[in-house]
Amino acid sequence: MAVGFGHDPAGTTGVMSGRGPVDAVAHALMATLEGRTDPYPLYEELRAMGPALRSEQLPVWYLTGFEESRQVLRDSRCGKQQDGRGIVAGNRSRGPDETRQVTMLFMNPPDHTRLRGLVSRAFTPRRIESLHDRVVSMVDELLDEVAAAGEVDLIDTLAYPLPVRVISELIGVPEADRDAFRPLTAALVKTLEPIVSDDDAAAADAAAAEFGLYFTDLIAERRADPADDLLSGLIEARDGDDALSHDEMIATLVLLYAAGFETTTNLIGNGAYALLQHPDQLATLRAERGGMADAVEEMLRFESPVQLDGRRVFEPIEVAGVPIPGGDTVVTLLGAANRDPRLYDRPGEFDISRRDLPILSFASGIHYCLGASLARMEGRVVFDRLLDRFATIELLATPTWRGSLTLRGLDELRVRAACG
Ligand code: HEM
Repeated sequence: MAVGFGHDPAGTTGVMSGRGPVDAVAHALMATLEGRTDPYPLYEELRAMGPALRSEQLPVWYLTGFEESRQVLRDSRCGKQQDGRGIVAGNRSRGPDETRQVTMLFMNPPDHTRLRGLVSRAFTPRRIESLHDRVVSMVDELLDEVAAAGEVDLIDTLAYPLPVRVISELIGVPEADRDAFRPLTAALVKTLEPIVSDDDAAAADAAAAEFGLYFTDLIAERRADPADDLLSGLIEARDGDDALSHDEMIATLVLLYAAGFETTTNLIGNGAYALLQHPDQLATLRAERGGMADAVEEMLRFESPVQLDGRRVFEPIEVAGVPIPGGDTVVTLLGAANRDPRLYDRPGEFDISRRDLPILSFASGIHYCLGASLARMEGRVVFDRLLDRFATIELLATPTWRGSLTLRGLDELRVRAACG
């Protein structure tokens, strides 16, 4: 997930527009629907201008290269701005509310190190692996619906319901309560976009408050009656005398939905669309199912579910030989880094035969996605079972992109699936 850029009451997007070549492209990328829908030509325009580009109007830098972005994400002289303020617009984004203050995604060391350490005690590889068989049966249940309908919107029938069910199962949210989480999460993640309207910010605050109330009750239930789930694990997690506070627990639970839900929806939706647009690749994957893990990596590279991330520079750094002063902000364009021609041959082509190439889709450094192995596992199960169940899957209509930039995903993906 990326740093939110906040409201735009000061008209920052207007200031950016047309004032210089970098701002003109950044404006097209962030402030126009065309740019957000197809950012790739704009990334190439930025790439052609140089590896580290400063906005002409704002103390903001744009990086399109893989190494440059990775360097900044891993540099301890860079980090999260913790004042709850937007980084491009420079004015107040959401909060700062108690939840945001203690959300690990927005924290720096040593607070981040402590909280991530505690959460990692509950979010263990063993817990993720133990979910595998449940994920397979959840996918199968959803594919039963696809099979029964024949023609479906794959986003609505599969890509949306699966991640919310998986996270809920992981945390231990009862089945009856799960449906309410989709609109709440959708409201939350809008604040991760580069530009956030006042209405969106208010809706996100309301959603966070609703999540907080819900989890307060669930935490009380689990304290009284622990189960074998992540929530009970968070309650038990200790480092010496240190444990998660109530607010930290709520912030972590909300973060798991905000960070893990729509991102995984987008991996499934974007990945399915990439396969359907490339029937040769789909046929290869059908014939060589051992290549599934690499195919999922290629889906994550080719249509990165998270397209951008960002860091505040605390002390002066140098990127690609260009000095960046402390106080400035760096936007790491992950979707561009994943198509860096210095690293990938034919970067704009979807090619599942690529092997062992790094990707930045889950970022890098201390905020590296905590759910990466869970998301990868869901991706592999989904595409494995889709191919097992259906002999043919055809695209029925050209899908539309949701129009957000940070989280890149489709509105709907209409397909006909037949068992053959
Ligand atoms: C394809 C799916 C996913 C993608 C592309 C993705 C991407 C990312 C990215 C880019 C970051 C780093 C943000 C930053 O540097 O500011 C991140 C962090 C995080 N992700 Fe994911 N994510 C995915 C799925 C998940 C899932 C399934 C979960 C958990 C259920 C999850 C939990 C988290 C958490 C807790 C963090 C914050 C880590 C920290 O700040 O230390 N993510 N994710």
